[in-house]
Amino acid sequence: MCGIVGYVGKKQCLPILINGLRRLEYRGYDSAGVAILSDGKFNRTRAVGKIDCLADKLKGQTMSGTVGIAHTRWATHGGVTEANAHPHAACDDNLVLAHNGIIENYRELKEKFLQGHEFKSETDTEVLAHLIEAHYKGDLRLAVEQALAHVHGTYGLVVMHMNEPEKIVAARMGSPLVVGVGDGEYYIGSDTSPMLAHTKQVIFLDDGEVAEITPDQLKMFTLQDEKVTKCVENIEWDDEQAQKQGFPHFMLKEIFDQPRSLEDALRGRYDLAEGEAHLGGLNMTPEQMRQVKRVVLLACGTAYYAGLAGKYAFERLADLPTEVDVASEFRYRDPIVDDRTLVFGISQSGETADTLAALREAKRKGAQVRGIVNVIGSTIARETGGGTYIHAGPELAVASSKAYTNMVAILLLYALQFGRLKRVSAATGKRLLDALLEIPGKMKSILEKSDEIKKIAEKYQGARDFMFLGRGINYPVALEGSLKLKEITYIHSEAYPGGELKHGPISMLSPEFPIFALMTQNQLYDKMRSNVQEARARQAKVILVATEGDESVKEIADDVIFVPPTMELLEPLLNTLPLQLFAYHMAVALGCDVDRPRNLAKSVTVE
Ligand code: G6P
Repeated sequence: MCGIVGYVGKKQCLPILINGLRRLEYRGYDSAGVAILSDGKFNRTRAVGKIDCLADKLKGQTMSGTVGIAHTRWATHGGVTEANAHPHAACDDNLVLAHNGIIENYRELKEKFLQGHEFKSETDTEVLAHLIEAHYKGDLRLAVEQALAHVHGTYGLVVMHMNEPEKIVAARMGSPLVVGVGDGEYYIGSDTSPMLAHTKQVIFLDDGEVAEITPDQLKMFTLQDEKVTKCVENIEWDDEQAQKQGFPHFMLKEIFDQPRSLEDALRGRYDLAEGEAHLGGLNMTPEQMRQVKRVVLLACGTAYYAGLAGKYAFERLADLPTEVDVASEFRYRDPIVDDRTLVFGISQSGETADTLAALREAKRKGAQVRGIVNVIGSTIARETGGGTYIHAGPELAVASSKAYTNMVAILLLYALQFGRLKRVSAATGKRLLDALLEIPGKMKSILEKSDEIKKIAEKYQGARDFMFLGRGINYPVALEGSLKLKEITYIHSEAYPGGELKHGPISMLSPEFPIFALMTQNQLYDKMRSNVQEARARQAKVILVATEGDESVKEIADDVIFVPPTMELLEPLLNTLPLQLFAYHMAVALGCDVDRPRNLAKSVTVE
C-alpha cells in the first residue's frame, strides 16, 4: 500500500528519496513520484509503474536540493495515471503534498472551501493540497492544522511550501508516520525501512499529531496546536537484516529465515523445568488470567490462518473456548464480548486497518485487548498497550511466511501459559516445549528439500486449479497453503477440510485438478487417507505431505513430500513449509513477480 519518504537536511536528497522508495516497494504500489525544492521552485516528477520507471524519467534531469518528499501510490480514488500519482501540487505549484490514507469528505471539502480551485487529478489527496493552500497565511504548520480540522478520514501526510524552503510538515491520523533523527537532518517514512540505512533513532507520530521539521529542529504539536514532547526510540533491526542476503527473492529468504526467526520468537519466553511459558506483555496476574473465560483472535489474511491454528492450542491446552474472526467481519457484526474476554489482534505489520478497527471495537465493548505483532512500534502494538512481538525480523515479501510460523508459535506459548494455570502438568508442558525446541532443526531438514519441491511444482505448472485438503490442525495449514498459491501464482485454488470434499467440491475434481493433501500421522490420519482415496478415485492427481517413514503413502500419491514427525499441535510449524516452497517455486516457474504480486499490498492501511 502507499508509502511516504521525506528528507530535511544538508545532503542531496534525491538518492535518499529514491532509495527510500525502493525500501518501501514491498508494500505494493502502482506509481511513484518525487518533489524536491530546487533553485527556488518545486521540481516534481512522477511516473506510472515501478520505481525504475521513475528513476529512468529522472535520468538527465538536474534535481539538486536538500529537502524533498516522495511517494509510492497504490490506487484507491482514481486510476493508475501519472496525474493521479503523488506528490500533488496546489494551484500555483507553491505547495506539494504526499498522502497515505483516504479523505472521506473530499467532495464536501471541494464544494465548501475550494470553489475556483483548478484540480488536475481524480484523487482525494489533491483536495488536501488545495485545502492547505486555502488556509495558508505564511505559516505552513498552522495551515495544516486548520485544514485538517475540516477533514474526515485517514491520513499520514507530508507537505512543503515554497515560502518555507527548509521545512516539511507531517501529520498523522490513522496512517503511520515515523521520523528518523540524524545529525542535523531528519528522515520521514511511512515505516522505518527507508531510514534504517541512515539512523536507528526514531520518533513515531501518534494519531492527531503534527510534526514541523527543519534540519536543526523537530517540533511536535497536536492538531489543536498544543506542544507535544515525544521520546526518541531505538530500532534494533539493521539494514542488513532487511536485505535479500544472496537469495533471488525476499520470499525465499524469508522462508529460509524460519528456523532462526522461530528461535528468536521463543528465546527467553519459557521455563523448561517448570514446563511453562511466560510472555510478559500479557500484563495479567495469574488471578486475572484465571478470570478469562473466552479468547477471541482477530486478524486478516495469513495472520487469520495463524489464528485458526492457534485456536486448537487454546482449546486443547488452556480449556478456553476460542473464536477466530476475520477482522473486517468482526468490526461490523455486533460482537459479544465482555471483560472476561481476552482479544488478541494478530498482525505482521501492526497497521492493518481492519484489524485495528476490530480491536478498537472489542475494546469499546469492554474486552481486554492485546496484540501479537511483528513490526515494533506499529499502531496495533502501541494501541493495545500489551501483548507480544513475534520477533520475525523485517518481512518484505508481500506473501507472508516467517511471520506466520512465529505467530503460531506465540499463540502456542500463550495457550501453554494459560494451560499451566489449569490442567496442564509440568511434564506435559515440558514435553510440548521440548518438541517446540526441536522444530527449528526439523524446519531445516524440510528446507533442504527445496529443490525436490521445485521439481514437483514444475511438474504441475500447467494446472489451472488446485485443491488443498487437511483435517483438524492441518485444515488451517491447507487454507494457508492455498492462499500462498493464489497470492503469488494467480492460480485458482481452494482449501477444504477433508471431510467436506464429498459435500460438494469433489464434483470439480478431474485429472486436470490436482489435490494437495496434508496427511501426516496424527489422530485423523486414517480419515484423511480415506478422503485422499476418494479424490484419487476421481482420477485427481495427488501430492501429499506425509510423515517421514510412512512409505505406504506412496501407493496413493503421485508425489510425496516427507516431513519429520512432531506433536500434533506443532504440525503447522512444519507442514506449512512445503506449501510455502511449492507456491514459491510455482510462481518462479510461471514467471510471476514473487515478492510483489499484482494487486496486493503488504500493509493494508485502508479498509
Ligand atoms: C495483506 C497481505 C497479507 C497479510 C494480510 C494481513 O492482505 O497481503 O499477506 O496476511 O494483509 O496483514 P498483517 O500485517 O495484519 O498481518
